[in-house]
Amino acid sequence: MPLFKRTLSEFIFRRFMLKHYASNLLLDMNLDAKRQTLDYIKANMPDAPYFEKHPQLVKYALDQVENKGLYLEFGVGRGKSMRWIAPEVDGSVHGFDSFEGIQEHWNGNPIGAFSQKQMPKVPDNVEFHVGYFDATLPGFLEAHSDSIAFLHVDCDLYSSTVTIFEQLGDRLQHGSIVLFDEYYNFHRWQQHEFKAFQEFVEKSGLTYEYIAFSVTGQQVAVRVLSNPTSSQ
Ligand SMILES: C[S@@+](CC[C@H](N)C(=O)[O-])C[C@H]1O[C@@H](n2cnc3c(N)ncnc32)[C@H](O)[C@@H]1O
Repeated sequence: MPLFKRTLSEFIFRRFMLKHYASNLLLDMNLDAKRQTLDYIKANMPDAPYFEKHPQLVKYALDQVENKGLYLEFGVGRGKSMRWIAPEVDGSVHGFDSFEGIQEHWNGNPIGAFSQKQMPKVPDNVEFHVGYFDATLPGFLEAHSDSIAFLHVDCDLYSSTVTIFEQLGDRLQHGSIVLFDEYYNFHRWQQHEFKAFQEFVEKSGLTYEYIAFSVTGQQVAVRVLSNPTSSQ
């Protein structure tokens, strides 16, 4: 019996401690990111409501919309978040995506990850704008002069998020709600959606407040307070 016990404990030690705990970098990458995220939350959004369930956070962010205007999602992919958003909206929701997946490596995912062979099934009030954002946005903005009521940024990449704020930044105004799907709490989060937004804030002078954040995922919602570059 002592021999069995020793063998079993050694097996457990090797399998779980050495193989999974001691050698698995992902664990420490995630823990590092989590600690940095916690520091950011404590410094910047201590009183905002937080959520464990993703659909509840999305619903809460939508409930905070007070302005009339455009409902936009960048990064429709399989349509999961669009199927949460569109039923809450009285009017059109515009979904932008190439459906070719991400065009750069991102957070361990290769180029082309999240590509779709078929268009996602979404409610009837969704209008798709298929193509890369820098190609579809100029025509869309010419055809739609409204400001933004709700903006969902779910395109993962820094470069794609830069395009969104470059093109749409002046449509943000007091009360616009922006929900980010990958703002923090993953390896190198400071280099992606977060960075593109913070650079836009710096450049434009936009002011905002955090209104909700996820404690289990990467989502964060903000309300725009003022925007000196607003076109409205
Ligand atoms: C993580 S997926 C979106 C997931 C989706 N919201 C869902 O709930 O299923 C990211 C999407 O962003 C799209 N994307 C990223 N950058 C883009 C760009 N510059 N132009 C068009 N689509 C882009 C990709 O094609 C991909 O479908």
